[in-house]
Amino acid sequence: MIPFGSTAVMSSRREPPNSLDFFPTPPWATRALLRHVLPAVVDGLHICSAWDPCCGEGHMAEVLRENIALVKASDVFDYGKGYLVADFLDNDTKILPPCDLIAMNPPFNAALAFAEKAFTQATVVAMLLRTAWIEGEDRYARLFRDRPPTVFAPFVERVAMLRGRWEPLASSATSYAWFIWVQGAQPRAPLWIPPGCKRSLTRPDDVARFGAAVAAPLLELVGE
Ligand SMILES: C[S@@+](CC[C@H](N)C(=O)[O-])C[C@H]1O[C@@H](n2cnc3c(N)ncnc32)[C@H](O)[C@@H]1O
Repeated sequence: MIPFGSTAVMSSRREPPNSLDFFPTPPWATRALLRHVLPAVVDGLHICSAWDPCCGEGHMAEVLRENIALVKASDVFDYGKGYLVADFLDNDTKILPPCDLIAMNPPFNAALAFAEKAFTQATVVAMLLRTAWIEGEDRYARLFRDRPPTVFAPFVERVAMLRGRWEPLASSATSYAWFIWVQGAQPRAPLWIPPGCKRSLTRPDDVARFGAAVAAPLLELVGE
């Protein structure tokens, strides 16, 4: 069982294996969920509690905390940031009562299993994934045919995600979208996340909070 209210503490960075698909979310992409997507679909439901069950170094969970009172964060790998360590797909990893929102950027290859588990744990499930995730016969048969998302919300701008770090100036050829399910709600028309979000939803202190660690410059020894 996962308690609410754990906070991140800084400590030394640990490298996860590549198989865990650690691609930190640019903070503005989570703010776009909170600002543009959820208000359009949750219809009066007040979101007081949220969980990022694959939080990595907290790039998404800490942004959720800017707006949501109770945010829990866990990951199967210990990144040394003080978050709970738990395999989301383990049967024993759950919360009671379910939380209002699960927001996550899951490992791509396990995203279907993450969706199926998340539906049992929250009223609203928000998954940040490549837009290409909407395709695929297996996903159609296991998910989309009987449980289409309440809204599919592609970003108009590119969300650049790199393995292992967030770099504000990075570019990307991959397109991303938020896939949202609201329990009991009918599917709606797609919602495009408008241009300009990257600039307007990036905050001056994001680099200090979430940017990649930069190695100290080497001192040049002179006059030896
Ligand atoms: C794409 S990263 C997202 C990280 C973070 N949520 C963010 O947005 O910056 C995917 C994360 O899933 C985690 N992960 C992979 N398998 C997991 C599992 N079975 N249970 C929990 N977390 C898992 C990885 O360690 C990695 O941190």
